[in-house]
Amino acid sequence: MLVSAHPEITVALLGAGTVGAQVARLLAASAADLQARVGAPLRLTAVAVRDAGLAREGVDPALVTDDAMAVATSGADIVVEVMGGIEPARSLILAAMEQGSSVVTANKALLAADGATLYEAAQRHGVDLYFEASVAGAIPLLRPIRESMVGDRIVRVLGIVNGTTNLILTRMDEQGADYGTVLAEAQRLGYAEADPTADVAGHDAAAKAAILAELAFHTRVTIDDVHCEGIVGVTSEDIKAAQDMGFVVKLLAIAERTDDDGGVIVRVHPAMVPRSHPLASVREAYNAVFVEAESAGEVMFYGRGAGGAPTASAVLGDVVAAARNRVSGGRAPGESTYAQLPVLPVGSALTRYYVNLDVADRPGVLAAIASVFAEEQVSIQVVRQDGHGDDAGLILRTHLATDAAMARTLERLRGLDAVKQVLGVMRVEGEA
Ligand code: NAP
Ligand code: HSE
Repeated sequence: MLVSAHPEITVALLGAGTVGAQVARLLAASAADLQARVGAPLRLTAVAVRDAGLAREGVDPALVTDDAMAVATSGADIVVEVMGGIEPARSLILAAMEQGSSVVTANKALLAADGATLYEAAQRHGVDLYFEASVAGAIPLLRPIRESMVGDRIVRVLGIVNGTTNLILTRMDEQGADYGTVLAEAQRLGYAEADPTADVAGHDAAAKAAILAELAFHTRVTIDDVHCEGIVGVTSEDIKAAQDMGFVVKLLAIAERTDDDGGVIVRVHPAMVPRSHPLASVREAYNAVFVEAESAGEVMFYGRGAGGAPTASAVLGDVVAAARNRVSGGRAPGESTYAQLPVLPVGSALTRYYVNLDVADRPGVLAAIASVFAEEQVSIQVVRQDGHGDDAGLILRTHLATDAAMARTLERLRGLDAVKQVLGVMRVEGEA
């Protein structure tokens, strides 16, 4: 039997919703194993919620209160923040650290908006800040980037990091399902954010992309640095066009060093991915992330990206890490932003594109369109014409071009007599 100087490690919980209730359940259900792994028993001391009168399965009602600040400042060894939102979560975390508590949080919105303040407070008070659950739910991703791969030089992180939108796009692709119906299901299953706009508008993925980029490139990145497009504009026609070309539409988060190493670009947007690419087979609410490093090459992480129990698994991993540090006197890694690379605008990102045009079917139209692409230095890879006369459609795929060049091309195409309408534009990723 391990003998510890710590008779117990106390844990206070801010929030007992989808994730928090599962954290409370697992702390109780795995108590004996957790004690053996940490070297001291973990005891849940208090749980803060908005509605303290509501019965919550697996949560001892005697611990529940609506006084979140009292819980945060109770002096627990570890405060777990799974409330979400910027305030009062930030003030509560800072108050907890001031009392000497280590903090475990799943709050990507707060980390991506103001992670620096949390890191600085953790450093000042000599406590830990862990946040594995903030990106990609159950998947161990941040610790591998922050610790296992820290000896390597990461050049690119690319993946699917939002479960709700992946569920919606999967069902649209496979069942022709209606967007709103699947979103309601994602909410029922506990995948969606409190305000699901954060999911469908891409803000949740953008927050995760900022966190990943900061860790990967040792550069401070906030959500304001991330170019963000959600799935709101993705139509059934886009899905059908992707299918016809052997592609599937995914919401991707991409953080990469520029080729000249002059900076990093971080972006979130829908993209067509070849069906043969491993990301194409990431279905439902699953997430998958590729991390490409100079020496390691490509490493892929895959698993459940959302939901109460999967996310609680990641939270518990952090609780055990923080508890072990209390027992042994260790510390979590702090913020590492020494590289301070500039975060560049999306205009310099290099991508391939799919463009769907409604055009007049008459001599010279193709030449006029092709010359706009050529003049803007956007090289065409594939052209396909559908229909005749009033219904003529032109589908093009390009070679690599900068986002800025493509934006100029589209502006000029919209001004051509021959182009009645730009029906669809989407980036294409994952082609060799
Ligand atoms: P949730 O179901 O909405 O639960 C939030 C909990 O916090 C509820 O118990 C709520 O109390 C409590 N709360 C909110 N504001 C409060 C306040 N001002 N004072 C006291 N208690 C307050 O949210 P969730 O899905 O568990 O997500 C929690 C966090 O985990 C968020 O940061 C989210 O982004 C992150 N996350 C979620 C998932 C997921 O799949 N759900 C995955 C990864 C990360 P009431 O119950 O009384 O309303
Ligand atoms: N709303 C998020 C998602 C929860 O759907 O991925 C997990 O972070």
